[in-house]
Amino acid sequence: MTTSHILVLHGPNLNMLGTREPDHYGSQSLTDITEKMIALGNSLGLEITSFQSNHEGELVDRIQQAVSENIDGIVINPAAYTHTSIAIRDALLAINIPFIEVHLSNIHSREEFRHHSMLADAATGVVAGFGATSYLLALRGLAEFLHQPQQTTENHTGV
Ligand code: DQA
Repeated sequence: MTTSHILVLHGPNLNMLGTREPDHYGSQSLTDITEKMIALGNSLGLEITSFQSNHEGELVDRIQQAVSENIDGIVINPAAYTHTSIAIRDALLAINIPFIEVHLSNIHSREEFRHHSMLADAATGVVAGFGATSYLLALRGLAEFLHQPQQTTENHTGV
């Protein structure tokens, strides 16, 4: 199996997972989640690099670097920047690397300002509402997407 390199990005306040609003975000820390992603990644042929920042520009820098680092796919929980950041959207559109948007909570069942995502329409997929498991589901989906045979427009029906 070829190994794909996955960048996992976490936005502001996600360094506080475990103690932050556990009713919304559960009790697992970011370290717990990263360990689970690395373990699942091993079984799926994915090498995981994880990065968290409370700063929009640092996330933009990390997205831009993904090209020179030969990243094959991105899992991103932009946290509050989901709802505001044209800069993160533009960075992701600039690099042409498939990405999955992740949320621990179901953003659609919460305050109205969380219902809109600046990224979702450009994402390969979106996973929300499964707590820490959202990240693992995103990884599984991305692995299938990256390892599937190339889609072609060829017509196999002979017509
Ligand atoms: C979040 C949802 C966002 O609305 C919020 O600002 C976060 C976390 C989630 O994972 O559920 O910080 O992205």
